[in-house]
Amino acid sequence: MTEPRLLIVSNRLPVTVRTDRGELSVAPSAGGLATGLRGPHTKSDGLWIGWPGDVSHLDDAQRGSLDEKLEAMRAVPLYLEPEEVTRYYEGYSNGVLWPLFHYMVDRIPLVSTDWEVYQHVNQRFADLTVARYRPGDTIWVQDYQLMLVPGMIRERLPSATIGFFLHIPFPSSEAFRILPRREEILTGLLGADLIGFHTFSYLDQFARSMMRILGLDVEVDRLRYAGRNVRLGVFPMGIDAAHFSQVATSPELATEADAIRQRAAPCRILLGVDRMDYTKGLTRRLLAYERLLARSPELHGKVRLVQVAVPSRTEVDAYVTLKTQVDELVGKINGEYGTIDWTPIHYLYRSIPESQLIALYRAADVMLVTPVRDGLNLVAKEFIASRVDDDGVLILSELAGAASELGEALRVNPYDIDATAGAMAQALALAPEERRIRMSALRRRIMTHDVHRWVSLFLGTLERSATQREPAGAR
Ligand code: ADP
Ligand code: G6P
Repeated sequence: MTEPRLLIVSNRLPVTVRTDRGELSVAPSAGGLATGLRGPHTKSDGLWIGWPGDVSHLDDAQRGSLDEKLEAMRAVPLYLEPEEVTRYYEGYSNGVLWPLFHYMVDRIPLVSTDWEVYQHVNQRFADLTVARYRPGDTIWVQDYQLMLVPGMIRERLPSATIGFFLHIPFPSSEAFRILPRREEILTGLLGADLIGFHTFSYLDQFARSMMRILGLDVEVDRLRYAGRNVRLGVFPMGIDAAHFSQVATSPELATEADAIRQRAAPCRILLGVDRMDYTKGLTRRLLAYERLLARSPELHGKVRLVQVAVPSRTEVDAYVTLKTQVDELVGKINGEYGTIDWTPIHYLYRSIPESQLIALYRAADVMLVTPVRDGLNLVAKEFIASRVDDDGVLILSELAGAASELGEALRVNPYDIDATAGAMAQALALAPEERRIRMSALRRRIMTHDVHRWVSLFLGTLERSATQREPAGAR
């Protein structure tokens, strides 16, 4: 008798293939889904089914070696064809769904013909999951790229336990109804026993879409569909807080953080760490920093913004445009305010290793998390978990899902450039005791509400929802 396993199904695997001068390697994938679920996957003995990134340039021997590396991580690759990357990943998932779910309706193309490919790739994910499924396994499908997968698996495995978690916001029904394929998306999700969201507001919006678009009544957190019960739940994701704290406490890391501070002295450090994505509010953040410099000459030579942006979705036009805008704005601000001895913005366009990231979190005086819309935002939580010294100030956008949990942060409306600049000044002026009170309250919450608790709450609720499932056609 084999043990039941957890099968995580997501578009992206926790590692992405890289080739550097012909040498093949795999690197950790960026983004909250991959970084968040990596630890729980390692602890479970299940499988993770997903895309390892573009492999079109690999020869057969390299493909074989990649398969071996992935197998050792219990990662099951689904290789996307180049046309599928263009039309399912870049086209429909990141050209249509991503902007719509983040309320950026004007970024949706006038005409999109990629729906069929989205459907086709979702079917491929469902087929591969069914092929690897063993009775008793729990299937956990992740995020907006795979919203049809729960329904497609349910057709083949009527009694399987299937969960779905949405890592991005669910928009208001007024925005969601714009989607020509809105019914298919909703019924695809309803193949799951449990659908999870980061915040109550996303759940509420989803329930309204259920009522207005499918005419289904939602009773608080449950509904009936096709003779089955479907549960809805709120599960704000956590991070591996103990791991961040442990790394942050190590003597090497404290030395590294001190070295960063000393190199920056006499400047105090404001820090931004994001994927290069238009939802992260990078241009508005830069404008707010410029406003701070314009109205506070006494801060010239005394502050530095360190902005680390990891390249993301670099083949999608909107991301290319954003990169140009950020490059130009950084150049403009540095050109205008910089001196021979002082560069106002230190800008890195790359992914950095975890130890360096945690050293930066520890060295920062002020952390800027100012997305114009964000499902949750794990960077905010990573910063808090790394502040084992109970110091540092978090400026957090009220439009990030994490804002509902992190009340002791300085909250800003990222569209209000003046107010954001004001919050930066306020954060720099906050007294040490006030910083300590706020940070220690934030830390208490982050340390207990971690990713392992998140996984066990979701899976526990899923287990209960699935055992209460009535056979199809019972009503
Ligand atoms: P999203 O999932 O939209 O990218 P999150 O804040 O939830 O946003 O998660 C981002 C994840 O990516 C975090 O775990 C963060 O540590 C990581 N990350 C972001 N920028 C970088 C970077 N430049 N280098 C390394 N890791 C990064
Ligand atoms: C967000 C999404 C994830 C995605 C990540 C990185 O966190 O919710 O599903 O994996 O961004 O984006 P990418 O397109 O590189 O997978």
